[in-house]
Amino acid sequence: MLEVNDLEVRYGAIRAVRGVSLKADTGELVAILGANGAGKSSTLMCIAGALKAAGGSIRLDGQDVTSANPEKMVRAGVATVPETRDVFPDLTVTENLTLGSYTRRSDRAGVTEDRERMLALFPRLAERAAQPAGTLSGGEQQMLVIARAMMSRPKVLLLDEPSLGLAPVIVDQIFEMIRTLKQSGLTIVLVEQNARKALSVADRAYVMRLGKIAASGTAAEIGAATDLSALYLGG
Ligand SMILES: Nc1ncnc2c1ncn2[C@@H]1O[C@H](COP(=O)(O)OP(=O)(O)OP(=O)(O)O)[C@@H](O)[C@H]1O
Ligand SMILES: [Mg+2]
Repeated sequence: MLEVNDLEVRYGAIRAVRGVSLKADTGELVAILGANGAGKSSTLMCIAGALKAAGGSIRLDGQDVTSANPEKMVRAGVATVPETRDVFPDLTVTENLTLGSYTRRSDRAGVTEDRERMLALFPRLAERAAQPAGTLSGGEQQMLVIARAMMSRPKVLLLDEPSLGLAPVIVDQIFEMIRTLKQSGLTIVLVEQNARKALSVADRAYVMRLGKIAASGTAAEIGAATDLSALYLGG
Protein backbone atom coordinates (compact mmCIF):
# COMPACT_ATOMS: atom_id res chain seq x y z
CA MET A 1 0.00 0.00 0.00
CA LEU A 2 2.48 2.64 1.21
CA GLU A 3 6.19 2.26 0.61
CA VAL A 4 8.83 4.79 1.61
CA ASN A 5 12.40 4.24 0.44
CA ASP A 6 15.51 6.00 1.61
CA LEU A 7 13.63 9.23 2.34
CA GLU A 8 15.59 12.42 3.05
CA VAL A 9 14.10 15.65 4.47
CA ARG A 10 16.22 18.74 5.00
CA TYR A 11 15.61 22.15 6.52
CA GLY A 12 18.46 24.12 5.03
CA ALA A 13 21.57 22.48 6.41
CA ILE A 14 19.63 20.37 8.94
CA ARG A 15 19.12 16.78 7.84
CA ALA A 16 15.98 15.92 9.76
CA VAL A 17 15.28 12.61 7.97
CA ARG A 18 18.27 10.57 6.81
CA GLY A 19 17.44 7.63 4.61
CA VAL A 20 14.23 6.38 6.18
CA SER A 21 12.57 3.32 4.66
CA LEU A 22 9.27 1.98 5.88
CA LYS A 23 6.08 0.43 4.61
CA ALA A 24 2.48 -0.11 5.57
CA ASP A 25 0.46 -2.93 4.03
CA THR A 26 -3.27 -2.72 3.44
CA GLY A 27 -5.15 -2.71 6.75
CA GLU A 28 -1.98 -2.50 8.78
CA LEU A 29 -1.44 -0.11 11.66
CA VAL A 30 2.20 0.93 11.73
CA ALA A 31 3.60 3.06 14.54
CA ILE A 32 6.57 5.42 14.28
CA LEU A 33 8.06 5.97 17.72
CA GLY A 34 10.93 8.12 18.91
CA ALA A 35 12.05 11.01 21.09
CA ASN A 36 11.51 14.73 20.46
CA GLY A 37 13.29 15.82 17.31
CA ALA A 38 13.86 12.27 16.01
CA GLY A 39 12.26 13.21 12.67
CA LYS A 40 8.86 11.56 13.05
CA SER A 41 6.74 14.55 12.00
CA SER A 42 9.12 15.44 9.19
CA THR A 43 8.76 11.90 7.83
CA LEU A 44 4.98 11.97 8.12
CA MET A 45 4.56 15.46 6.63
CA CYS A 46 6.81 14.53 3.74
CA ILE A 47 4.63 11.48 3.00
CA ALA A 48 1.61 13.83 3.20
CA GLY A 49 3.15 16.01 0.51
CA ALA A 50 3.51 19.00 2.83
CA LEU A 51 7.34 18.82 2.83
CA LYS A 52 9.49 18.24 -0.21
CA ALA A 53 11.65 15.11 -0.20
CA ALA A 54 15.34 15.91 -0.63
CA GLY A 55 15.92 12.31 -1.67
CA GLY A 56 14.34 8.87 -1.80
CA SER A 57 10.87 7.85 -2.93
CA ILE A 58 7.30 7.43 -1.74
CA ARG A 59 5.02 4.94 -3.48
CA LEU A 60 1.31 4.41 -3.02
CA ASP A 61 -0.17 1.24 -4.53
CA GLY A 62 2.96 1.02 -6.66
CA GLN A 63 2.54 4.56 -8.03
CA ASP A 64 5.30 7.09 -7.46
CA VAL A 65 3.89 10.00 -5.39
CA THR A 66 7.21 11.42 -4.16
CA SER A 67 6.60 14.93 -5.44
CA ALA A 68 2.81 15.06 -5.05
CA ASN A 69 1.39 18.11 -3.22
CA PRO A 70 -0.95 17.69 -0.22
CA GLU A 71 -4.16 17.99 -2.24
CA LYS A 72 -2.95 15.40 -4.73
CA MET A 73 -2.12 13.07 -1.84
CA VAL A 74 -5.63 13.47 -0.43
CA ARG A 75 -7.07 12.70 -3.86
CA ALA A 76 -4.76 9.69 -4.10
CA GLY A 77 -6.23 8.40 -0.82
CA VAL A 78 -3.87 9.63 1.88
CA ALA A 79 -5.42 11.80 4.62
CA THR A 80 -3.32 13.45 7.30
CA VAL A 81 -3.97 14.67 10.82
CA PRO A 82 -1.02 16.93 11.73
CA GLU A 83 0.24 17.65 15.23
CA THR A 84 -1.44 21.06 15.20
CA ARG A 85 -4.99 19.70 15.61
CA ASP A 86 -6.60 22.64 13.80
CA VAL A 87 -10.38 22.82 13.79
CA PHE A 88 -12.28 25.72 12.26
CA PRO A 89 -13.34 27.16 15.65
CA ASP A 90 -16.34 29.21 14.51
CA LEU A 91 -17.81 26.45 12.36
CA THR A 92 -19.92 23.69 13.85
CA VAL A 93 -18.80 20.09 14.17
CA THR A 94 -20.97 19.20 11.18
CA GLU A 95 -19.52 22.03 9.06
CA ASN A 96 -15.99 21.00 10.00
CA LEU A 97 -16.76 17.46 8.84
CA THR A 98 -18.15 18.75 5.55
CA LEU A 99 -14.94 20.70 4.91
CA GLY A 100 -13.02 17.42 5.21
CA SER A 101 -14.68 16.30 1.99
CA TYR A 102 -13.46 19.23 -0.13
CA THR A 103 -11.95 16.88 -2.69
CA ARG A 104 -15.38 15.33 -3.36
CA ARG A 105 -17.65 18.38 -3.30
CA SER A 106 -19.70 17.17 -6.26
CA ASP A 107 -20.65 13.98 -4.43
CA ARG A 108 -23.26 15.57 -2.14
CA ALA A 109 -25.13 12.38 -1.29
CA GLY A 110 -21.88 10.58 -0.51
CA VAL A 111 -20.67 13.40 1.69
CA THR A 112 -23.93 13.45 3.67
CA GLU A 113 -23.77 9.69 4.04
CA ASP A 114 -20.16 9.78 5.26
CA ARG A 115 -20.93 12.58 7.71
CA GLU A 116 -23.80 10.52 9.15
CA ARG A 117 -21.50 7.51 9.36
CA MET A 118 -18.82 9.47 11.25
CA LEU A 119 -21.40 10.87 13.67
CA ALA A 120 -22.86 7.39 14.19
CA LEU A 121 -19.40 5.94 14.76
CA PHE A 122 -18.41 8.68 17.22
CA PRO A 123 -21.41 9.60 19.40
CA ARG A 124 -19.43 12.24 21.31
CA LEU A 125 -19.25 14.22 18.08
CA ALA A 126 -22.90 13.55 17.28
CA GLU A 127 -23.97 15.00 20.63
CA ARG A 128 -22.05 18.16 19.71
CA ALA A 129 -22.88 18.27 15.99
CA ALA A 130 -24.37 21.79 16.08
CA GLN A 131 -21.77 23.22 18.48
CA PRO A 132 -18.95 25.50 17.25
CA ALA A 133 -15.80 23.37 17.11
CA GLY A 134 -13.89 25.97 19.16
CA THR A 135 -16.06 25.12 22.19
CA LEU A 136 -15.07 21.44 22.18
CA SER A 137 -12.55 20.05 24.67
CA GLY A 138 -9.04 19.23 23.41
CA GLY A 139 -9.89 15.54 23.19
CA GLU A 140 -13.11 16.21 21.29
CA GLN A 141 -11.24 18.47 18.88
CA GLN A 142 -8.77 15.64 18.29
CA MET A 143 -11.68 13.28 17.56
CA LEU A 144 -13.12 15.85 15.19
CA VAL A 145 -9.92 16.32 13.17
CA ILE A 146 -9.58 12.55 12.82
CA ALA A 147 -13.22 12.21 11.73
CA ARG A 148 -12.77 15.18 9.37
CA ALA A 149 -9.75 13.48 7.78
CA MET A 150 -11.92 10.40 7.23
CA MET A 151 -14.34 12.50 5.15
CA SER A 152 -11.99 12.28 2.16
CA ARG A 153 -12.52 8.49 2.17
CA PRO A 154 -8.82 7.74 2.60
CA LYS A 155 -7.14 4.40 2.09
CA VAL A 156 -4.30 5.53 4.33
CA LEU A 157 -4.58 7.73 7.41
CA LEU A 158 -1.48 9.50 8.75
CA LEU A 159 -1.80 10.51 12.41
CA ASP A 160 0.75 12.74 14.16
CA GLU A 161 0.74 12.40 17.97
CA PRO A 162 -3.00 12.22 18.53
CA SER A 163 -2.46 11.76 22.27
CA LEU A 164 -0.36 14.92 22.72
CA GLY A 165 -1.37 16.98 25.73
CA LEU A 166 -4.49 14.94 26.53
CA ALA A 167 -5.42 13.40 29.87
CA PRO A 168 -4.97 9.60 30.09
CA VAL A 169 -8.71 8.85 30.07
CA ILE A 170 -9.12 10.96 26.91
CA VAL A 171 -6.08 9.29 25.34
CA ASP A 172 -7.84 5.96 25.91
CA GLN A 173 -10.86 7.27 24.01
CA ILE A 174 -8.73 8.50 21.11
CA PHE A 175 -7.04 5.11 20.88
CA GLU A 176 -10.43 3.42 20.99
CA MET A 177 -11.37 5.60 18.01
CA ILE A 178 -8.19 4.57 16.18
CA ARG A 179 -8.98 0.92 16.89
CA THR A 180 -12.47 1.37 15.44
CA LEU A 181 -11.04 2.88 12.26
CA LYS A 182 -8.50 0.07 11.96
CA GLN A 183 -11.30 -2.48 12.18
CA SER A 184 -12.87 -0.92 9.09
CA GLY A 185 -9.77 -2.01 7.11
CA LEU A 186 -8.06 1.37 6.97
CA THR A 187 -4.26 1.49 6.70
CA ILE A 188 -2.86 3.72 9.47
CA VAL A 189 0.54 5.25 10.13
CA LEU A 190 0.64 6.50 13.70
CA VAL A 191 3.38 8.77 14.99
CA GLU A 192 3.51 8.67 18.80
CA GLN A 193 5.76 9.48 21.71
CA ASN A 194 3.40 7.46 23.86
CA ALA A 195 5.11 4.23 22.87
CA ARG A 196 3.20 1.87 25.12
CA LYS A 197 -0.14 3.15 23.96
CA ALA A 198 0.90 3.07 20.30
CA LEU A 199 2.21 -0.49 20.60
CA SER A 200 -1.09 -1.58 22.13
CA VAL A 201 -2.88 -0.87 18.82
CA ALA A 202 -0.04 -1.29 16.29
CA ASP A 203 0.76 -4.34 14.17
CA ARG A 204 4.32 -3.20 13.54
CA ALA A 205 6.51 -0.34 14.69
CA TYR A 206 9.57 1.64 13.68
CA VAL A 207 11.73 3.45 16.20
CA MET A 208 13.36 6.64 14.90
CA ARG A 209 16.51 8.15 16.34
CA LEU A 210 18.35 11.18 14.95
CA GLY A 211 16.57 11.02 11.61
CA LYS A 212 17.09 7.31 11.05
CA ILE A 213 15.24 4.07 11.72
CA ALA A 214 16.97 2.62 14.76
CA ALA A 215 14.76 -0.47 15.11
CA SER A 216 11.75 -2.09 13.50
CA GLY A 217 9.61 -5.14 14.08
CA THR A 218 6.24 -6.36 15.20
CA ALA A 219 4.65 -4.39 18.02
CA ALA A 220 5.41 -7.30 20.37
CA GLU A 221 9.07 -7.44 19.30
CA ILE A 222 9.58 -3.71 19.68
CA GLY A 223 7.77 -3.73 23.03
CA ALA A 224 10.02 -6.51 24.31
CA ALA A 225 13.32 -5.42 22.80
CA THR A 226 13.23 -1.68 23.31
CA ASP A 227 13.73 0.25 26.48
CA LEU A 228 10.59 2.30 25.95
CA SER A 229 11.45 4.83 28.62
CA ALA A 230 14.63 5.65 26.63
CA LEU A 231 12.42 6.83 23.77
CA TYR A 232 11.39 9.79 25.87
CA LEU A 233 14.94 10.84 26.60
CA GLY A 234 16.86 12.90 24.08
CA GLY A 235 18.76 11.47 21.15
N1 LIG B 1 10.71 24.07 10.11
C1 LIG B 1 11.87 23.62 10.57
N2 LIG B 1 13.01 24.31 10.39
C2 LIG B 1 14.21 23.86 10.83
N3 LIG B 1 14.35 22.70 11.50
C3 LIG B 1 13.26 21.96 11.71
C4 LIG B 1 11.95 22.38 11.26
N4 LIG B 1 11.06 21.44 11.63
C5 LIG B 1 11.76 20.48 12.26
N5 LIG B 1 13.08 20.78 12.32
C6 LIG B 1 14.15 19.98 12.92
O1 LIG B 1 14.12 18.70 12.36
C7 LIG B 1 14.36 17.69 13.34
C8 LIG B 1 13.20 16.70 13.34
O2 LIG B 1 12.00 17.36 13.76
P1 LIG B 1 10.59 16.64 13.76
O3 LIG B 1 9.57 17.67 14.07
O4 LIG B 1 10.44 15.86 12.52
O5 LIG B 1 10.77 15.63 14.98
P2 LIG B 1 9.69 14.79 15.78
O6 LIG B 1 10.26 13.42 15.91
O7 LIG B 1 8.36 14.92 15.16
O8 LIG B 1 9.71 15.48 17.21
P3 LIG B 1 8.50 15.73 18.25
O9 LIG B 1 8.31 14.44 18.97
O10 LIG B 1 9.05 16.79 19.15
O11 LIG B 1 7.29 16.17 17.49
C9 LIG B 1 14.56 18.44 14.65
O12 LIG B 1 15.93 18.56 14.86
C10 LIG B 1 13.92 19.78 14.40
O13 LIG B 1 14.53 20.79 15.14
MG1 LIG C 1 6.57 15.72 15.81
